[in-house]
Amino acid sequence: MKHIFLDLGRQPLANGFREPNQQDPEFFFDLKVLFDDFNYLVSLENFVQPELMFNDQYAYTTSNSETMCRHFAKLAYEFNLQYNKVLEIGSNDGAFIKHFKQENAVAVEPCKNFAEITRQLGYRTYDSFWNFDLSEQIVRDFGLVDVVYSANCMCHIPDLIEAFHGVAHILKSGGQFIFEDPSLLQVIKNNAFDQFYDEHAHIFSLTALQVLLNEAGMTIVDVKPIPTHGGSNRVIAQHINSPNIINKNVERMFDLEAAYKLHQKDTFIEFAKRVEHNKKHLVELVNNIRDKKYALSGYGATSKSTVVYNYCGIEPDFITDTTPNKQGKLMPGIHTPIISPESRMQHKDYVFLGAWNFMDEILVKERFRQYKFITHIPQVTIL
Ligand code: TMP
Repeated sequence: MKHIFLDLGRQPLANGFREPNQQDPEFFFDLKVLFDDFNYLVSLENFVQPELMFNDQYAYTTSNSETMCRHFAKLAYEFNLQYNKVLEIGSNDGAFIKHFKQENAVAVEPCKNFAEITRQLGYRTYDSFWNFDLSEQIVRDFGLVDVVYSANCMCHIPDLIEAFHGVAHILKSGGQFIFEDPSLLQVIKNNAFDQFYDEHAHIFSLTALQVLLNEAGMTIVDVKPIPTHGGSNRVIAQHINSPNIINKNVERMFDLEAAYKLHQKDTFIEFAKRVEHNKKHLVELVNNIRDKKYALSGYGATSKSTVVYNYCGIEPDFITDTTPNKQGKLMPGIHTPIISPESRMQHKDYVFLGAWNFMDEILVKERFRQYKFITHIPQVTIL
């Protein structure tokens, strides 16, 4: 049975940045989140049509973050030592795949603007959504692969069983499926309700993944918590019938998730209460700042902050972002201008840290700041 536990109201596409003079009506949907007590999966109630989100206008570029570039370079180095043929699902602008030899790697990326980048770099690139048919086509064109890697993409896919069947189909016997996505445990621990948005069709616990992967003929052999995107898990799965050695981390993570009761609906009902409390605090703080005529701006036009601004009805004066193709546009829903950090308008007084998932990197960069950061993670705090 499915239980809706969280209602984040009417939300636009989290990465649906608007042009200043854009006339067409903006897309909004009801953002509600549910827990399925059959397979323990936490998902959106209404999946947004993938073509609306992942197209040639998609704004998020992996290479824009130093943290993510370092992350991918390190991982690719390890992969190059172990694997021959690599498939990446959701290759974005090539931040990971560019570390491999062209003849050994294949990219899948439905956003055509990014698919063109890896194609220009000489990589065989399929600009389609991942599904079973595509896995069959790639097996015909390229053969089976030693490893399937996917970062922050599996959680975007509405039909996980089909997606996982496709992975099982393309993997060599003994091959590994390595994927990383935001961790439900971290969302619950950090009160990170802004991890729920259109693109995150699901937020995974290891417990739920094991049920789904088993259904597709795979099993989890290792898991590693990683700091990216506000706390993720890197999961390694193999065919159930391979000679699998299961790392102790897997049992430990199952135990930890059980201790946090990620298999019980009451956990999520309690979480939703904390989220409401968090909203109330943030709105009070912002009202206070506005009453005192202080400035309030935003740092990072992140997909997550779209959720916060629209859920809490907060409108900063402007938002800075380092991504060139977000600059000059308007924040989804609230239509606040997004500007480059180097522009004439500078942060002062209070700044909402939309990019809290890059907090360490940002606090170092902004150590001489003359303003105060506000974060809502895990509680509303002035840093
Ligand atoms: P994400 O949270 O959706 O991954 O997006 C992160 C956004 O934050 C991305 O558009 C770049 C932006 N950003 C800044 O504006 N300044 C920074 O110092 C960092 C690290 C990110």
